[in-house]
Amino acid sequence: MQVELLGNVESAEMRNGAFIINTAVAQAQVTVYSDTIIRVCITRKGKQPESLAVIERPLDNFTYQKLDDTIEVNTPGLKLVIEKNPLRFNFFTADGKHLSSDDKRFGTTLHSDKVMNYRQLHSDEKFIGLGEKTGNLNRRGMHYVNWNTDAAEHTIKDDPLYKTIPFYIGLHSGVCYGLFFDNHHKSYFDFGASTDEQFTWFGADGGDMNYYFFGAQSIADIIKDYTWLTGRIEMPPLWSLGYQQCRWSYMSADEVLGIARKFRERKIPADAIYCDIDYMDNFKIFTWNKQNFPDPKGMVDQLRAINFKLVTIVDPGIKIEEGYKEYDEGVAKGYFATYPNGELYTGSVWAGRSHFPDFFNEEVREWWGNAFTALTEPGVEGFWNDMNEPAAWGQNIPPIVKFGERYMPEVRNAYGMQMARATQAGTKKLLKNKRPFILTRAAYAGTQRYSAIWTGDNSASDEHMLYGQRLVNSLGLGGFSFIGVDIGGFMGNPTPELMVRWNSLGVYTPMFRNHAAQGMCMREPWEWGEENESIIRKDIEQRYKLLPYIYSGFYQSTQTGIPLSRTLAIDYTWDENVYDERFQNQSMFGEAILVAPVISTALNADVYLPQGEWYRFSTDEYFEGGQVVNVAAPLNDLPVFIKGGAIIPMQSLVQSTSDKNDGVLYIHIWNGANANEFVYYEDDGISYNNEKGEYYKRTIRFEPENRAVTLFAVEGSYPSKYKTMKLVFHGFEGAATVDKENNSDVIIISF
Ligand code: GLC
Repeated sequence: MQVELLGNVESAEMRNGAFIINTAVAQAQVTVYSDTIIRVCITRKGKQPESLAVIERPLDNFTYQKLDDTIEVNTPGLKLVIEKNPLRFNFFTADGKHLSSDDKRFGTTLHSDKVMNYRQLHSDEKFIGLGEKTGNLNRRGMHYVNWNTDAAEHTIKDDPLYKTIPFYIGLHSGVCYGLFFDNHHKSYFDFGASTDEQFTWFGADGGDMNYYFFGAQSIADIIKDYTWLTGRIEMPPLWSLGYQQCRWSYMSADEVLGIARKFRERKIPADAIYCDIDYMDNFKIFTWNKQNFPDPKGMVDQLRAINFKLVTIVDPGIKIEEGYKEYDEGVAKGYFATYPNGELYTGSVWAGRSHFPDFFNEEVREWWGNAFTALTEPGVEGFWNDMNEPAAWGQNIPPIVKFGERYMPEVRNAYGMQMARATQAGTKKLLKNKRPFILTRAAYAGTQRYSAIWTGDNSASDEHMLYGQRLVNSLGLGGFSFIGVDIGGFMGNPTPELMVRWNSLGVYTPMFRNHAAQGMCMREPWEWGEENESIIRKDIEQRYKLLPYIYSGFYQSTQTGIPLSRTLAIDYTWDENVYDERFQNQSMFGEAILVAPVISTALNADVYLPQGEWYRFSTDEYFEGGQVVNVAAPLNDLPVFIKGGAIIPMQSLVQSTSDKNDGVLYIHIWNGANANEFVYYEDDGISYNNEKGEYYKRTIRFEPENRAVTLFAVEGSYPSKYKTMKLVFHGFEGAATVDKENNSDVIIISF
């Protein structure tokens, strides 16, 4: 097998908005997407690849300069220096600071079907991101593979897991950059792991060396650019941000209803309950088990009457059984994956021997989407897409399995994404103007447009809880804001202490879902003794009080791509402590709340508070930032800190998001040296009317020097649910609570 280097440039010209460079073995196309995004795509002179991830188009034109040995592409934010002999691509800031370059010796190589890119490694270079990957926040010294896998019973070291997000951010010498390798073949990322510190490399088993380089000079701006390119989340239905109770499985409608009622009886707020695979007839997707779920609509109606929504699971595998509608139709219409000779591919999953829909085909997606009537007619509004790596017992779906014209090795990493896409499109149509809640396990870059995600089958241990937080934060760097982990741990049984601790962390996780595997102990809040139940209740109550803040945080994600749960590396990029293994699990939840996960056996913790002013949420105790503090961490009080100057809108306690609240919006403000602003956002939380301007949005500004708070004029036509606003001040001398009527004018409050 010959490794081919690109060689020297033989021709270079601008054609239809792309700069096209030919060498003897390859063609490179350079296109510019914005001031800070340049794409390089190196092919074997084949056609340009189509992207499932990217939703934007390149600019029609850009300026470049042909020099003797180089060609320079200059945008207002980025400079690309293309060396001609041999062909290499080197990126700089517009003012000439070095960002990242091809390794001088190797650059991009073609290696039979493989494409690889070797890049210079800076001695102080850190790498963050790459989605759902184990290991430390700083990925320097690690090697990863992307090959979507049903990683059942994975450890905190296993790789690959379920998702492929080939996007990372590099940091060195005070500069940062992003790199997105848009290729869903099996891919490899080596962050200086095995190269004697000489270079870093990435590549794939097939496809093209097709990457986007991001040159914005803050992590937040790189995320904004990446999510501009690959899309952002939609506003989720408000109910999906409440507490969710899941289990594999509640075995009957009576059990589902019994559990839901118990939440109401015990006054533990909750919004969603799940049916895992056992609601189906023999695991046949889009069917109900008639014995245990004889009246799905009746069940959903009764759930609705107590303000619960139902989420049901769907897997891709369609059971081979004549007379089963989806099987018969799929076979008749040729909708399933085949072998090259046209025979249908068969693999085994929960349902036994099954065929797998070709979600890459639009007609199949449409067919799949329409089949959700079996679930939407009884009133289901949440759709959980599982096993879509795709999983098959033994994992080894052979490479000759075909999806239309494409073979397994090319499509595997994007299969789950296309399933989620089909599910979202179909259920959106069926639910008319209502927002469906979609959850998927497998994903490729861009899936944030279609679905929330969770991190799969974790285990009931402290180390899984901590590393789960890193997964959430890493996925957040890749555009996924709506993420959850199985709280309590899917496999194994948590101790009561771990359950309580994990639940308190769940309050500050974008998706708050308790889930457990078959055969594991029951996980519901009342299973842990009275004292623990009351801590769990208090924490879930806190989640509900925080929903106005959380919902506004999701709105921010829809506009900017900045995730709700953020590694401290986003706001405190150049602070070395952030990458310290002792503090790397800490994160910001939205703009103002710092959360420090603590294992269940420790009752105090070292917490790193970055530069600035901080207040403990539970006590208002003040802490100077820029230091490690040792704080009490009893099971009923996870260390959570509020940033000085923070503005946090909250509401009174409700038992579900459909409850009518008391009409008061509490705007909490903590003292701080610097002025601060918060964009408060509200809409009906149900429909897509927000896209037609039916929202309520207002900027709230706090100015410490004048002791003033300004509520700027309301934008949008949605009348707020809250008739009055109460401003509550923390850390100020002599500031009393202020009540104001919530009208849409500018309101200035001095205190
Ligand atoms: C997979 C999922 C898990 C689910 C189970 C049964 O293991 O990851 O969440 O409960 O399948 O459907």
